[in-house]
Amino acid sequence: MRILITGGLGFIGRTLTRQLLAESSHELVLVDNLTEQVHGPNPGYSEITNLANVRHIREDICEPGVLADALQGIEVVYHLAAETGTGQSMYEIERYYRTNVQGTAILLEEIVKSPDGRPRVLLLASSRSIYGEGAYVEANQASNPLAQRHYPCARDKSDMAAGRFDFERAGQPLLAVATKESDPANPLSLYAASKLAQEHMCQIACQASGVRYVALRLQNVYGPGQSLRNPYTGIMSIFTNILRQGGTIDIFEDGKESRDFVYVEDVARAFRAAATLAPDAPSVFNVGYGVATSVSQLVALLEEKLKTSGKSKISGRFRPGDIRHNWADITRMRDTFGFVPEVPLRQGLSETVDWALTQPIEEDRSEKASRELAALQG
Ligand SMILES: NC(=O)c1ccc[n+]([C@@H]2O[C@H](COP(=O)([O-])OP(=O)(O)OC[C@H]3O[C@@H](n4cnc5c(N)ncnc54)[C@H](O)[C@@H]3O)[C@@H](O)[C@H]2O)c1
Repeated sequence: MRILITGGLGFIGRTLTRQLLAESSHELVLVDNLTEQVHGPNPGYSEITNLANVRHIREDICEPGVLADALQGIEVVYHLAAETGTGQSMYEIERYYRTNVQGTAILLEEIVKSPDGRPRVLLLASSRSIYGEGAYVEANQASNPLAQRHYPCARDKSDMAAGRFDFERAGQPLLAVATKESDPANPLSLYAASKLAQEHMCQIACQASGVRYVALRLQNVYGPGQSLRNPYTGIMSIFTNILRQGGTIDIFEDGKESRDFVYVEDVARAFRAAATLAPDAPSVFNVGYGVATSVSQLVALLEEKLKTSGKSKISGRFRPGDIRHNWADITRMRDTFGFVPEVPLRQGLSETVDWALTQPIEEDRSEKASRELAALQG
């Protein structure tokens, strides 16, 4: 099969590429301009790009003619190319919208324009960020599956400054619950809004042109190969880098904020499985491990693995606009295509750190990234 992967040499893209190559002798076209922020000045993936059945087009997806050429004879498109930093999207807006929105527009226009050569299916790497905070119920309704779901907006800066990080409703605490695909979108960053725009654009254009469309809303993906030098995304990579330098992690808020960490090999398997979905299956799926892990728990696991226990501190610092909790209800992907993630956090984290230890230690740029965002917020 001829397969196009935009962003095919990125973190998830390389894992997907390797799995596809192991699965069968597919012909793969990878369009990836190897952005320096992610890959550094001298990226080399010759173990992939030198393979006879792999064609790497090192170009920007927005450059005229690039995607028209890449789409020739393609049956399956995985659309992964994107700018991915939530905080950075708040001030590098044009750059984010050029790749994420205009790039998607160009991809879709090329697909729509060639009625005789359209792919069978387009799979989009969407994001849990489109939900914003996700869903909450009143704490005394925790065990009621029919409890009314609430969708709080961004937290107030003055509440956070006073150490009030959790949500309340009429003086009663709200409890986060796993986010379902049927929960409403509520993007809280320019990045999230661009991912939601991608979903709408792909859904409408694919429906109009008879191309099967599937969006996977990915939670926090981690694993070997994640950029260790990009300070704008990838909390596990950023923390690992800091600990390896002998630094301490400044755990924001009260450390109880949580995320859903899903291993990159599981994510790549989900993409491959989703490409075979029946035409009448749903089009949107959460992809996560389905478990909330607090940032304090994550740091404790990393410190245990790196034998640096006890050095990191909860600082109470916070970033306005950060969400408090988000994890996925993964029932739909399990029930629709029998997909369940296989790699538990402790195992995946161990493999990730073992890989990171083989890599050069990168300069920690995470404080610089925080300062850029703080300057914007005043
Ligand atoms: N990693 C996560 O936790 C996560 C979570 C939710 C969604 N996603 C989505 O998954 C996709 C892949 O993310 P990733 O973690 O592998 O990120 P990544 O940065 O490692 O990969 C993205 C790739 O796209 C390439 N790229 C960026 N702009 C491009 C352009 N204009 N033209 C050509 N190539 C370009 C980059 O060089 C990079 O290799 C993205 O769409 C992202 O929004 C990732």
